[in-house]
Amino acid sequence: MDLKTLIRTIPDYPKAGVQFRDITSLIEHPEGFRESIKRLAAPYRDKGITHVAGIEARGFIFGAGLAIELGVGFVPIRKAGKLPGETMGQNYALEYGVDTIEMHAGAVKDGDKVLLVDDLVATGGTAIAAISLIRRSGATLEDAAFVIDLPDLGGAKKVQAQNINTHFLIE
Ligand code: PRP
Ligand code: ADE
Repeated sequence: MDLKTLIRTIPDYPKAGVQFRDITSLIEHPEGFRESIKRLAAPYRDKGITHVAGIEARGFIFGAGLAIELGVGFVPIRKAGKLPGETMGQNYALEYGVDTIEMHAGAVKDGDKVLLVDDLVATGGTAIAAISLIRRSGATLEDAAFVIDLPDLGGAKKVQAQNINTHFLIE
């Protein structure tokens, strides 16, 4: 199945000049969604992953499916102010703004093997902030898996420069 054909592009959203790669058209397609989760999981079935960490909001969709597929727990990495317990936070720059993400302190710890998941890498700022949170927790970041890479924006190379292996389904 060609998953790329299931991604809709919306020009000039959320601002002029951005080509928005919309995964809602993929997840509305039952086989496309299921196949995405299977392909994301394929390299990690025997890797001893203990947790999938997914980034709000679109990383929750793929991350939850992937955690179920791998039989491990899911750790939400959320926008600032949304998690009720004690948190660790990290600022980052977006393709179109600035934001902060947080993870519950103690959600993952030394000895855990975490797989980071999001829908897409653009500049890489969000993923690098999440990598930093997971590493600060003491857990091992095993890999980072994404549905889409936007190679023109260089984010994947920045993520790989953090000594992280990456897995993408679509460019
Ligand atoms: C999008 C996307 C990634 C991030 C990628 O999320 O889902 O998390 O941007 O951009 P970057 O590589 O330049 O950091 P967004 O912050 O728009 O939030 P959303 O998932 O809540 O829509
Ligand atoms: N997040 C950051 N850049 C994006 C883009 N071009 N399309 C969809 N999500 C994004």
